[in-house]
Amino acid sequence: MTSFVKRIQAWQQTSGRHHLPWQGTKDPYKVWLSEIMLQQTQVSTVIDYYHRFLERFPTVLSLAQASQAEVMPYWAGLGYYARARNLHKCAQVIAQHYQGQFPSSPKDLQALPGIGESTANAIAAFCFDAITPIMDGNVKRIFTRFYGIEGYDSQTNKRLWEQAYQNVIGEKNIGQYNQGLMDLGSTICTRTKPICTSCPLQKDCFAFKHHKQGELPQKKPK
Ligand code: ADE
Repeated sequence: MTSFVKRIQAWQQTSGRHHLPWQGTKDPYKVWLSEIMLQQTQVSTVIDYYHRFLERFPTVLSLAQASQAEVMPYWAGLGYYARARNLHKCAQVIAQHYQGQFPSSPKDLQALPGIGESTANAIAAFCFDAITPIMDGNVKRIFTRFYGIEGYDSQTNKRLWEQAYQNVIGEKNIGQYNQGLMDLGSTICTRTKPICTSCPLQKDCFAFKHHKQGELPQKKPK
């Protein structure tokens, strides 16, 4: 049987997105910037901000040397301003402690301001070919539906991460796989009206089989 990872990779090759501005680069500065901007903002909004930001701050050192007041206008409108403050702090840590070079290990990346496990793993896989999975909202939706994972507490989150790490064991090209998950989650395995007929996982998907796409992922009661 074709592995979960290989099915996602084959789908990403034929049907995923390939022309986003931060694809086709392994520059960790650019990949990091795009991942931070994309944490709470959709792709179509991020694109212009991403280009303007890089034009003004082309390297991590140029960002580290600027004042926070110089950086904020380039974030204005994106919201979640703690992201911009952490971005600036992170650039200064990389300038001061890493000679302006991003570290390559997921653990070191995760220790930087504003970088959690999923973002660290995304950067490590895209830029340094690490075998490290992501777990954002899109991936949670795909996994809860495909594996039939119920619940919404920290235990559930732990199960999701365990499954994510299991899946990548012995696999290659995890950057492409991670990108495929993001693309599948945002174009096919959408929150409402998922397009299951176009999904490479359909035949083994728990939610599809049991008509539970509307009930997974489970929502926290308010
Ligand atoms: N969301 C988070 N990271 C992304 C990426 N690299 N491409 C598209 N959407 C994303």
